[in-house]
Amino acid sequence: MKIPSVKGTRDFYPPVMAVRNFLVDGWKAASRRSGFEEYDGPIFEHLMMYQVKSGEEIVEQLFHLTDRGGRELAIRPEITPTLARMVGQQINSLPRPIKWFSVPRLCRAERPQKGRLREFFQWNLDIVGVADPLADAEVIFTTLDYLAGVGLGPADVQARISSRRLLAAYLRGLGLDESRLDAVYPVLDKKPKVPPDAFEEMLRTCVPEEAIAVGIHRFMELTDPADLAGLSLSDGTQAEAFEAARRELADVMRWLDRMGMGAYCRFDPGIVRGLAYYTGVVFEVHEATGSLRAICGGGRYDNLLADFGGPAMPATGMGMGDCVLEILLREKGLLADDLPTRRLDWTVCCLDEALMETAVEAVAALRRSGRAADMAYKPAGLGKQLKWAAAAHAGRVAILGREFLEDRRIIIKDMQTGEQKGVDFDRFLSGHYDD
Ligand code: HAM
Repeated sequence: MKIPSVKGTRDFYPPVMAVRNFLVDGWKAASRRSGFEEYDGPIFEHLMMYQVKSGEEIVEQLFHLTDRGGRELAIRPEITPTLARMVGQQINSLPRPIKWFSVPRLCRAERPQKGRLREFFQWNLDIVGVADPLADAEVIFTTLDYLAGVGLGPADVQARISSRRLLAAYLRGLGLDESRLDAVYPVLDKKPKVPPDAFEEMLRTCVPEEAIAVGIHRFMELTDPADLAGLSLSDGTQAEAFEAARRELADVMRWLDRMGMGAYCRFDPGIVRGLAYYTGVVFEVHEATGSLRAICGGGRYDNLLADFGGPAMPATGMGMGDCVLEILLREKGLLADDLPTRRLDWTVCCLDEALMETAVEAVAALRRSGRAADMAYKPAGLGKQLKWAAAAHAGRVAILGREFLEDRRIIIKDMQTGEQKGVDFDRFLSGHYDD
């Protein structure tokens, strides 16, 4: 019986794995450049973990299971709730500020489409314990630092930044009561993703009041943060909250400018984010023409730790999946087709059956000394073995042939320069590989 792979999953054959490693290694390096520490959590959690505060969309996309003890579990669709749980558990002993990164494997039962799969990898950066907008800017900076490092400039990608706090104050100011806010965010988040008619219908279903719907459109159509000042709110409390959020957003923009990332960043009130837990500055990075889904998204979520029974603790972060990023890098010619699946320091070419034992001895000695080394299982012609060495990205080749039989010499060939020299085998074996 032939059993196919599961819809929306990938098999990581070595060349595909090389691409994944290229992305993941870059994510990790950028995280470390900005001083983040790596963490991870379990692949499944209690189902409730995602029902508390992730929002309806994620709950609908959960892969969930009941274990033998009748516990309702779910495979993680994101790692932010796990992070909140982990930090909450050890809040008093963790050194602050908490700047953590992770690259979890996640599963969401989405309809597989371009840039969306059912199993994917997601780079996460989070800063916990810092309310200052500098932390939001640092998360966005680190994201952009990675993207710049792989060759994507401001003409290729743009960070669109807004604020949930700003939007919340505005919506409350328009007269929308608190209990309805959580239902409005996912609808507004859909605006750029669905046709205008469909958006209008969704909006009118959850906001039947004409004046509020018109006000929402007014906000979402702004392009210049300076125009926010023109949105006067009659409710004094909300006007104050709106002004505080506006200043916070301006601070984030100013920091990003200072960090040399101003050209990548712009204010976009259409960025709302689908997840329910965001409370402040939110952002997404998009391909500049908007032809692809978001490359990443994140923002401030100051209530999540408390929602999980922990202490009140400010937090901000982001998640970047591997799928859209890979598509974009390919489109821009920034991903090599032939990334090495392995890199060897040495290959040992055995040209004569009688020298197989000596060759194995040499390979093992190289490996024991910490070098990456390999050889063929059977002796073969030099041409064939050199081709194999080149395919394995070997730095040097040790050739065991006629010279060894004559006077125990091996020939060392440098694969970069093509230079060759004869070396005494016993000296080589005793660790003089680089003479
Ligand atoms: P999210 O917007 O649900 O946020 O996902 C962030 C990114 O993960 C997306 O922009 C996309 O790159 C990738 N992604 C999401 N779903 C899929 C999928 N089905 N296939 C491929 N890629 C996908 C979060 O997950 C938040 N927890 C991020 C965060 C961390 N916020 C604060 N800290």
